[in-house]
Amino acid sequence: MSVCFVVDQPVIFGDLSAPQPKKHSLTAAIPASPVRRQIGVGGFRTSARAKELVNQVLDSNRLTAGPMMSRFEAEIASLHGCRFGLMCNSGTSALQIALAALKESCGWSDGDEILVPAVTFVATANVVVYNGLKPVFVDVDPLYYTLDPARLEERITPRTRAIMPVHIGCLPCDMDPILDIARAHHLRVVEDSAEAMFARYNGRTVGSFGDIACFSTYAAHMITTGVGGLCTTNDADLLVLMKSLMNHGRDSIYIRMDDDEGRSGDDLFRIVDGRFSFVRMGHSFRCTELEAALGLAELDDRQAHWDCRQRIASRLLAGLASLEGRLQLPRARPGSDHGYMFFPLVLRRDSDRRADVIRYLEERGVETRYLLPLINQPAYREMFGNIDDQYPVAARLNECAFYVGCHPEMTDADADYVINCLQSCFAPTN
Ligand SMILES: Cc1ncc(COP(=O)(O)O)c(C=O)c1O
Repeated sequence: MSVCFVVDQPVIFGDLSAPQPKKHSLTAAIPASPVRRQIGVGGFRTSARAKELVNQVLDSNRLTAGPMMSRFEAEIASLHGCRFGLMCNSGTSALQIALAALKESCGWSDGDEILVPAVTFVATANVVVYNGLKPVFVDVDPLYYTLDPARLEERITPRTRAIMPVHIGCLPCDMDPILDIARAHHLRVVEDSAEAMFARYNGRTVGSFGDIACFSTYAAHMITTGVGGLCTTNDADLLVLMKSLMNHGRDSIYIRMDDDEGRSGDDLFRIVDGRFSFVRMGHSFRCTELEAALGLAELDDRQAHWDCRQRIASRLLAGLASLEGRLQLPRARPGSDHGYMFFPLVLRRDSDRRADVIRYLEERGVETRYLLPLINQPAYREMFGNIDDQYPVAARLNECAFYVGCHPEMTDADADYVINCLQSCFAPTN
């Protein structure tokens, strides 16, 4: 079985013997010039506010988690409908401690199963493996590329413990049916929101749906701090566990430098005694005040950056509309935002080869990425074998999908250049 993406909806069909349209061939309407315009998949500009806050940190002589981080954590939590936020050094670390905390608090065993979309950044599945759990893949929706709720229940077994929906490229997953299934089967939910911030689904924000949500602030994400990640949750016990897990498994009585502030007598001694008490296996996943300061500055610009991504996305959508027969364009799910962390494109025709299109774009300075291939990656092929036939949408996307940039550092002229490159790439050659 193979999946073909047609203009309004994807069609699953079994007959590949039907005549295919003429083979795509590239034109050279936009030459691959030696002076290349560079349009990256992400961009960053240091704002005056960022410099001011970073200088405040440097002037304070305090680099370890402190007031900037507490503010950043509180703001991210409140913007995503949660009581608590916790900053660590990457989105992967956030996912790692989220699963480890749930594994410990719920008493999961090694080999228990976690449902993970078959299309996502490799870190989502890696942390499952690193926690001694088993990733069980679920195919994705052919229009939105997020976990397909219709494919979830067929993957649930007596050992399933949690679902990890991933809000791909800042498009929220279809959370209502996912949460219904989680409730019906008593499964925990960890939102991998590494690629999504602020986006709403049916009136609620990403990050507010699961037991824990995990964000990344790595380069090219919705908020960039160089490296960084956050967990948000409403569960105070999980927060305590995650704090310990990211600090070498320390007794959570003393995690941050101020935790002994204002204490005296027995109270102080309990903390002193706990400072070097390691109660579980943990990690060194701490981040510094410098990243938190950058994060706070980025939060000040979040609406402007969001609007910018929307403007660039609208321009790309309008400029590429005439190519809808060749390229499946991104879209927001009804009732939901699309934050466009990037701009995904899927080739509809078998005769259009992704390698040709990508080469055409890259030679003209338009940076691309494949759309989050996972099950075909060598490390996963080694663990699970070739499972493409069980995941037709993911397998198809792994052949035909890629993304280009859609970010606040792109100008309208950059968007027009990307449009022109794609238009000329698909222009008829005779
Ligand atoms: C879906 C997803 N999960 C997890 C991560 C890992 O985040 P980090 O690179 O901050 O470790 C990423 C990073 O891009 C991601 O896209």
